[in-house]
Amino acid sequence: MSVQTLLMDFSIDPARLGDESGQKAVFSQLETVLKDYVPNLILAAEVAVDGGSLKLLTGKKGTTVSVRLFDRGLVTVNIEYYKEDSEEPLISFKNTKLLEGSVRISLECERVKLLPTIKRGYKFDVYLTSSDERLLEYDIDNVVFDEQSPFQRVQIVHSKSLGNMLVLDDLQNISEADLIYTETLMQRGKENYEGKEIVILGGGDGALLYELLKEKPKFVWMLEIDEVVMSACNKHLRPICGDVLERRKGPNYEIIVEDCMLTINKFIKEGKKVDYIFGDLTDIPISESACGELWEFMITILNSSFKILKPDGKFMTHGNGATSSESLELYEQELAKLKPAVSFSKSRAFVPSFLEDWIFYQISFSANNGA
Ligand SMILES: C[S@@+](CC[C@H](N)C(=O)[O-])C[C@H]1O[C@@H](n2cnc3c(N)ncnc32)[C@H](O)[C@@H]1O
Repeated sequence: MSVQTLLMDFSIDPARLGDESGQKAVFSQLETVLKDYVPNLILAAEVAVDGGSLKLLTGKKGTTVSVRLFDRGLVTVNIEYYKEDSEEPLISFKNTKLLEGSVRISLECERVKLLPTIKRGYKFDVYLTSSDERLLEYDIDNVVFDEQSPFQRVQIVHSKSLGNMLVLDDLQNISEADLIYTETLMQRGKENYEGKEIVILGGGDGALLYELLKEKPKFVWMLEIDEVVMSACNKHLRPICGDVLERRKGPNYEIIVEDCMLTINKFIKEGKKVDYIFGDLTDIPISESACGELWEFMITILNSSFKILKPDGKFMTHGNGATSSESLELYEQELAKLKPAVSFSKSRAFVPSFLEDWIFYQISFSANNGA
């Protein structure tokens, strides 16, 4: 079951909507068109509102149609009806195109847009957002895992084109189609991990650990806070994590289940330094320690990480969507404040499950600061 919502809008000469009689005339033309697409349509209410008017119509099986006429020359139409999965839609995709065309011709408007049907209250949440808050619709056809952990909502959903995909608190994290994410994060082919000591902050899906182990490192510590993420990925994302989450420990790796700050602080105390640190935390990392605001927590992680990095070591992390330039700039401003000074390079890749280009950072101590 779901409620199907069709959103249409069109622009016409503002003079046609300037007063009540103009608005009535436009509405009457629109009503005639709508009656061909929504059976048994009748006008149920009319309200004058500041800057225009609102009309409410009802139709077959409780369909409602609200029409908002704005005196600035814009009309919005919202059609809503209830549909069981087995039922045919009241207005098919083909008919939405015909409806759009009929409105364009009958109302002589230059611009008309009818969005594809939005499904609300559907058993699968198919809508996620891009890094710059645009609405994205996924071809999700199953929820294979859904649990609230002590830290976040952990879901594994199946997408027809991406395979299984990890979603944490409604944000897409990684899918079976995202090897490019891991390979760009680790700069495969450009960095040499053989015989190196590595720390992964987060990385609960296991994909980065799995790929790094193929490069024969000396030792990898993966510091992941959420047991639920790991057991879900171990079961449902095997193609990207192999058996690393199942085993938890191997001759050259260990997964430590706790807030990453604890091991970082332990390493700082011991004077332990590593060759690489990977920031593979959620975009909004989980903060257990009292570090104030989120941004402060991210800065704390950065500052502390550099304390356990060898002078020629590197901090590798995912940044943000390439279109989120403000947030990328803010991050780079924070990097500029680090002491000892750091320099960085950036890489960019299209990540299939993000449906957008993503920026990755490779950060190291500046050559001239004697770190
Ligand atoms: C699944 S990974 C991969 C990140 C991902 N590619 C993305 O799009 O953000 C992120 C992991 O960071 C973990 N995490 C968040 N905050 C943490 C913290 N303070 N300490 C350890 N792990 C943390 C989350 O539990 C999650 O499993």
